[in-house]
Amino acid sequence: MMSSPRTITLAFTGASGMPYGLRLLECLLAADARVYLLYSPAAQVVARQELDLTLPTQPHAAAAFFAERYRAKPGQLTVFGREDWLAPIASGSNPSDAMAICPCSMGTAGAIAGGLADNLIERAADVMLKERRPLVLVPRETPLSAIHLENMLKLARAGAVILPPSPGFYGHPQSIDELIDFVIARILDQLGVSHALGPRWGAVGPRPPFIQRA
Ligand SMILES: Cc1cc2nc3c(=O)[nH]c(=O)nc-3n(C[C@H](O)[C@H](O)[C@H](O)COP(=O)(O)O)c2cc1C
Repeated sequence: MMSSPRTITLAFTGASGMPYGLRLLECLLAADARVYLLYSPAAQVVARQELDLTLPTQPHAAAAFFAERYRAKPGQLTVFGREDWLAPIASGSNPSDAMAICPCSMGTAGAIAGGLADNLIERAADVMLKERRPLVLVPRETPLSAIHLENMLKLARAGAVILPPSPGFYGHPQSIDELIDFVIARILDQLGVSHALGPRWGAVGPRPPFIQRA
């Protein structure tokens, strides 16, 4: 059994795939991880467009919203603003144990590859790379241009895990939720967070209990 890291930074950016981001947040909180949540203005647009969900702009309102939605424990979830340079994750002296950007836009991937660090998402990712901590990017675009591919190669060479949301079909998924959880399971594995999302290839014994959805 893996031991779960204490603190995970999770960022939503404006790529399609917001159901992945929300499910990842739900599973991290269910796994008792402490979560620092960040999201871009474009992520708010995508959440509204894909899920009819309004993500609060003010960090305190956002924390209250998600804490209630996913029954977070007091103090378990903190939301930081876009330019909150006083957040711990803005500095290499206090990074989280791991970070995921899910979904990750090509814009944010390019900005991190270019070292811009122009907002807290980009800076926190920059810190993870320089401190050699796990950074998982879940990029979504199709087709991919040579610019996208070069940026992702650069990021992989700098230590990031490029984890496209590409669910396998060998488990005979019966629903969109199962397709989503296939990807979330792989992300949690990379973050080192224990989970029981679906059976593992070659595993014997009963199917593990599912993490219920809110
Ligand atoms: C509904 C919607 C879907 C989008 N899907 C994608 C996508 O799949 N991949 C991508 O790279 N950009 C996508 N974009 C464009 C990005 O949101 C845009 O490039 C934005 O500047 C990214 O900013 P961010 O990285 O700060 O979130 C989408 C935008 C909208 C409104």
